[in-house]
Amino acid sequence: MIIAPSILSADFGRLRDEIQAVEDAGADWIHVDVMDGHFVPNLTLGPPVIACIRKVTTLPLDVHLMIEKPQSSISQYADAGADWITIHQEADAHLHRAVDHIKKLGIKAGVSINPASPVSLLENILQDLDLVLVMSVNPGFGGQSFLPFCLDKVKQLRNQIDQNSMQTLIEIDGGINSNTLPLAMRSGAEVFVAGSAVFRGTNYKKNIEDLRNSAAQNS
Ligand code: DX5
Ligand code: ZN
Repeated sequence: MIIAPSILSADFGRLRDEIQAVEDAGADWIHVDVMDGHFVPNLTLGPPVIACIRKVTTLPLDVHLMIEKPQSSISQYADAGADWITIHQEADAHLHRAVDHIKKLGIKAGVSINPASPVSLLENILQDLDLVLVMSVNPGFGGQSFLPFCLDKVKQLRNQIDQNSMQTLIEIDGGINSNTLPLAMRSGAEVFVAGSAVFRGTNYKKNIEDLRNSAAQNS
C-alpha cells in the first residue's frame, strides 16, 4: 500500500517543515492538490511552489491537477518536478492527447473521475494510464466525508485492470481515514491519499501507522 499525505491539510506557513515531517513519519508519496478556482471552487498553488517542494523532499510528487484545460500547463508541472501528473476526465475534452503529452514528458500519467462520473468514461483510455484516481469526495476541499458509493467504482476498475492484466494503479482520494481505508483496500485500491487524517495533531508518525494498521486489522 502507498500512503500519500495531501499537503492541502498542512500548515502552508510551514510547508517545508510539514513535508519533512510526513517524510520522516513514513509517507510514501507527497500528494499535491492543484486547484484553479474554476474546475473547483478553491485556489491553491502552482508550478513555482511545486518547484520549491521538489527541493525539500526526495519522495515522489503526486500532482493532482484540479484545473480546467490542463494540457496547456502540463509541461510546467513536469519542469517543476512532478513524478506523477493526474488530470480530470471532466476537465479535458481531449483526454487521450493530454495523457500522451504527460507520458512523452517522461512523467507517469493518471486520470481522475469525480464522484458523479462513471467508470465507463475511462473505457478507451484505461490501458494508457499508469494510475486512475477515484475521487471519494467532490474535489475542492479537505476534511469532507467519504462517499461510500464510490467503492463500487473501485471494484469495477479492479476487475477491468486485473482481467486485462494491466499495471494501472488505483488511487483513492477524499475522506480516507482508518475506518474508510480498509473498505477502499478491500475494493481494490492501492494508493491512499489522506489529508486531514495525516495532518491532525502533532504525531504524524502515529497517524500514518494508524492508517497502515487499519488495513491489517480489517483485512
Ligand atoms: C480534495 C483533494 C484531496 C484532499 C483530501 O479535493 O483532492 O486530496 O486534500 O483531504 P481529506 O483526506 O481530508 O479528505
Ligand atoms: Zn487530491
